[in-house]
Amino acid sequence: MSGKLMKVFITRRIPQEGMKILSAAGVCEVSQWDSDEPVPRAELLKGIQGAHGLLCLLSDKIDAEVLEAAGPNLKVISTLSVGFDHLAIDEIKKRGIRVGYTPDVLTDATAELTVALLLATARRLPEGVEEVKNGGWSSWKPLWLCGYGLSGSTVGIIGLGRIGMAIAQRLMPFGVKRLLYSGRTAKPHAAEVNGEFVPLDTLVSESDFIVVSCSLTPETQGMCDKSFFSKMKPTAVFINTSRGAVVNQEHLYEALSSGQIAAAGLDVTTPEPLPTNHRLLTLKNCVVLPHIGSATYSTRGVMSALAARNLLGGLQGTDMPSELTL
Ligand code: NDP
Ligand code: DGY
Repeated sequence: MSGKLMKVFITRRIPQEGMKILSAAGVCEVSQWDSDEPVPRAELLKGIQGAHGLLCLLSDKIDAEVLEAAGPNLKVISTLSVGFDHLAIDEIKKRGIRVGYTPDVLTDATAELTVALLLATARRLPEGVEEVKNGGWSSWKPLWLCGYGLSGSTVGIIGLGRIGMAIAQRLMPFGVKRLLYSGRTAKPHAAEVNGEFVPLDTLVSESDFIVVSCSLTPETQGMCDKSFFSKMKPTAVFINTSRGAVVNQEHLYEALSSGQIAAAGLDVTTPEPLPTNHRLLTLKNCVVLPHIGSATYSTRGVMSALAARNLLGGLQGTDMPSELTL
């Protein structure tokens, strides 16, 4: 009987919701990198041999070498993420492999974390917590630990997609005066938040808060560079919860350390993890989180279930609940 089961390789321990769905389906034989840490490349290349399905994470680079190692059985790649910049889409497409991903189910959690990061950065929460602990809190002082507030501000969102829109909806009730956004095309849904579609340069120079929530593409890679930061207001706060590679981190360091911009909050970096001796971590006006945008228990459970259902759809040649159009 087990000879008839399709082979699946899973590159990490994933929440039980997904594992239960796979085992209940009874159509696949699962082998797994049974760890909370990333699968070493050599183990990935070994584990995927002959697989019909792959369930991977954003930290696994799925390129031609991996696809070659898999061989001709591979029908489906299901990633436990909405971002798919780690997948070599052209190589996957030319082999006729289907791709599943996890849009929508993590939108609320990621938008919520983005707002938390923006407020923590703009109102200097990590610095304040540190001062309480290290004795730096001597008294109430009129200008000590002052930051920037959202009320009456202009917010610029780069990439008003699912998450960008959810961020805008959460920020507007703080009294934001203008909501600017940029991207490739104007979005009809922007009307719900009075969003103004503007060229990137306008967004950068007029915003008090800039939030990056676009996907990582060849066009957005390195988009936030020296020239970008030089156009920002010196009082403006920069937030990135998309992908680290959208930002030139050396240029960001210069902008933050020279006072060209006020502060930055990053949930994503290059590389991940960011080495503990990285220059950005020496700056008080830079708040760095370890890529936790979607990290709520329920969201990760739902992502796991969706990734499993996508995988099964691809294995069985039926509909996948969230198939990426290649
Ligand atoms: P969507 O596809 O809904 O949105 C992506 C947006 O990126 C679109 O609005 C698109 O705009 C925009 N975009 C593409 N190219 C450009 C460009 N050149 N300039 C400006 N905007 C551009 O995806 P989601 O909102 O669901 O997710 C967005 C990204 O967030 C993911 O790709 C992922 O990298 C990241 N993410 C991070 C998480 C975290 O934990 N920090 C959690 C989840 C996602 P247009 O349509 O006009 O091209
Ligand atoms: C994604 O899904 O792309 C995130 O980065 C992690 O949830």
